Amino acid sequence: MDIFKAIEARHSSRKFTRAPVPRAHLEVIADAGRRAPTARNEQPWEFVAVTDRARLKELAGLAENGKFIADAGACLAVVSRPSKYYLEDGCAATENILLAATALGHQTCWVAGDKKPYAPAVCRLLGAPEGFLLVSLVAIGKAEATGGRAPKRALDEVLHWEKF
Ligand SMILES: Cc1cc2nc3c(=O)[nH]c(=O)nc-3n(C[C@H](O)[C@H](O)[C@H](O)COP(=O)(O)O)c2cc1C
Repeated sequence: MDIFKAIEARHSSRKFTRAPVPRAHLEVIADAGRRAPTARNEQPWEFVAVTDRARLKELAGLAENGKFIADAGACLAVVSRPSKYYLEDGCAATENILLAATALGHQTCWVAGDKKPYAPAVCRLLGAPEGFLLVSLVAIGKAEATGGRAPKRALDEVLHWEKF
């Protein structure tokens, strides 16, 4: 899928059918994540692909605004060692992950990680090394129904030329 089509098609889905996401797709999606830019090219992140239903349910139990992870085909967690720009780096990777998954025909939702009280528990559940931080959880799968699209601000409202 063309990049602009993927940007347009991407939207958050929060009701999944439990259809599996092929491992090969998860590899392509994580590969897109690792190609994102990082400050000083530190690449501080690691990606944890979760497909086991029991583990997906455990993640859903921890992430209060991500209960739908329980029914996703997979969840790709972005965790990072605590570098200066871990959050920016991890978010850039997360967006690449969302777009790659969309381009492969999957639906997604970014579930908050950083700043959430459940972040340390998720890191422990994922077996991340001590001190690692959770940036995001990305639910990936087949949506049961395509809900309404979130309204977006118009280009001429947000784009300023030469001066705000
Ligand atoms: C940093 C961040 C955290 C988010 N956390 C959650 C979350 O915990 N649960 C959720 O359902 N959606 C979450 N979202 C998705 C947003 O709610 C969603 O992107 C927004 O409503 C716009 O809708 P769209 O993704 O369909 O364009 C998060 C998005 C971002 C960027």
